[in-house]
Amino acid sequence: MNLTKVERLLVNYKTLEEFKKFKEYGLQELSMLEDLQANIIENDSDSPFYGVYYGDKLVARMSLYRVDKRFDQYFEPAQDYLELWKLEVLPDYQKRGYGQALVEFAKSFGLPIKTNPRVKSAHFWEKMGFVPVDYDMERDRGENPLVWYPKGVTAKES
Ligand code: COA
Repeated sequence: MNLTKVERLLVNYKTLEEFKKFKEYGLQELSMLEDLQANIIENDSDSPFYGVYYGDKLVARMSLYRVDKRFDQYFEPAQDYLELWKLEVLPDYQKRGYGQALVEFAKSFGLPIKTNPRVKSAHFWEKMGFVPVDYDMERDRGENPLVWYPKGVTAKES
């Protein structure tokens, strides 16, 4: 049984400071910071990120974004799905089940999930039950997306 607690992260200066420890710190985080500074978003508003704390330290995180079925190019029948990205566990905390806990949390919504794996993480995703989608260069701009299907959902025929 996995007792790791996954939390929705709030956008505030503390969260953004914690994000700096992750390798995939980039435009998304910078624009959150700017929006916060310019009062475009409120302190403590919901973010698309979920994470795991060890004490008061953020040690693992992912971003989950719900895509409307009108834009679905992956599943049959077309439906809303989750785009999972920026899954990352800090080096000292890897292999303790935190990555798996985040993926299981994403699965608990009961929607299909699509992700673009980082290099060398293929084995982890395979263990999590993700499979490659039919590869369409133009659609995926050279990426190799992986998907997870909840019961009753299948790949779109190409
Ligand atoms: N290669 C092979 N198996 C892996 C793995 C890897 N890189 N990472 C995790 N696993 C396996 C674990 O052994 C475990 O299997 P088990 O239950 O049979 O023991 C299962 O996947 C779940 O592992 P978990 O402890 O939840 O993984 P994690 O918390 O370390 O999260 C990553 C996995 C990939 C998200 C995390 O390690 C990470 O962010 N890594 C840094 C970036 C990266 O992609 N590294 C790849 C290795 S260089």
